[in-house]
Amino acid sequence: MSHERTSLTAKKIARFMVLIDAVPRFAGLLPADAATTAEAILRASGAVAQRHIDMMRAPWTQRFYEIAEAWTARGQLVWFGLRKRWMADAVEEAIAAGATQLLVVGAGFDPLAAIIARRHPEVTCVEIDAPATAAPKREGVRGAGFARTNLHLCAADLSERSLGEVLHETPWRSDAQSVVVAEGLLMYLDVKDVKAFFRAIHEHTGAGSRVAFSYVDGDDAGRPHLGTLDWLIRTSLRLAGERMRWGIRPERLRAFVEEAGFFVGEQVDGAALQKEVLAPLGLPEEPVAAYEYLAMVERAKARE
Ligand SMILES: C[S@@+](CC[C@H](N)C(=O)[O-])C[C@H]1O[C@@H](n2cnc3c(N)ncnc32)[C@H](O)[C@@H]1O
Repeated sequence: MSHERTSLTAKKIARFMVLIDAVPRFAGLLPADAATTAEAILRASGAVAQRHIDMMRAPWTQRFYEIAEAWTARGQLVWFGLRKRWMADAVEEAIAAGATQLLVVGAGFDPLAAIIARRHPEVTCVEIDAPATAAPKREGVRGAGFARTNLHLCAADLSERSLGEVLHETPWRSDAQSVVVAEGLLMYLDVKDVKAFFRAIHEHTGAGSRVAFSYVDGDDAGRPHLGTLDWLIRTSLRLAGERMRWGIRPERLRAFVEEAGFFVGEQVDGAALQKEVLAPLGLPEEPVAAYEYLAMVERAKARE
């Protein structure tokens, strides 16, 4: 992935949150405060022109996306809303179960750490992203008035610096029960870097810590395979300079994370979230084009 410029996918996902917020039938889908916080951060970041943010609330943009989805696959936008909702719920559940630290790796313009830092002043929140994305994000958080003493935004390319070294510059405690989020990140890493990621998280978190992440399906060689959306998504990401590199079959995830000392706590797909989240919102038939799986893995309560 190119880290010389602000991540295009990170900007796109934040703008999608604004668009989801503007679609009346998706009311209640995103986590509380997520769209307004993301929008305020994005506006103050200077990374996206104001008119490109304004247009996400224009009715013709909604119409355009509906037509685009009708031509490709329906349910791509709603998937981002479901993913945000699941990650935010996983973090709140981990805090309720005793986590005192949150780490968001490859945070982009996601508002989760800013929201948690404000809502839980006792929780240490750390975000990491490559400098070209972390710098405008920091400006956005500061400019929008979301800076907090318990919120630490780190600018570091994790292909060049180790996670431990970056965390060392923050008040992060490697023995504390923590929750880590890696949303839309691991598929962009080589398999060896994904393995190193889980090992590093294990080394820098305490017993009972959890990792919530998204991943894509893969073939036997660990190459991403995205089903019917394969060609479309991989081509558009390659054009954005953000090529996917890692995928794994859901049934193989357990053995993969066990090697790093984690067990699988939960795994969900689009169909499960359609039932759990969309049906209660009155959208049981809403199509979901989930090109990823979501998983929460946990390290054993007592240290081995
Ligand atoms: C697809 S975006 C996802 C952003 C955010 N997690 C979300 O879901 O809204 C991937 C993010 O990971 C960051 N990233 C990718 N590789 C990285 C690396 N080696 N070091 C730090 N950040 C990285 C990118 O800069 C980008 O912001």
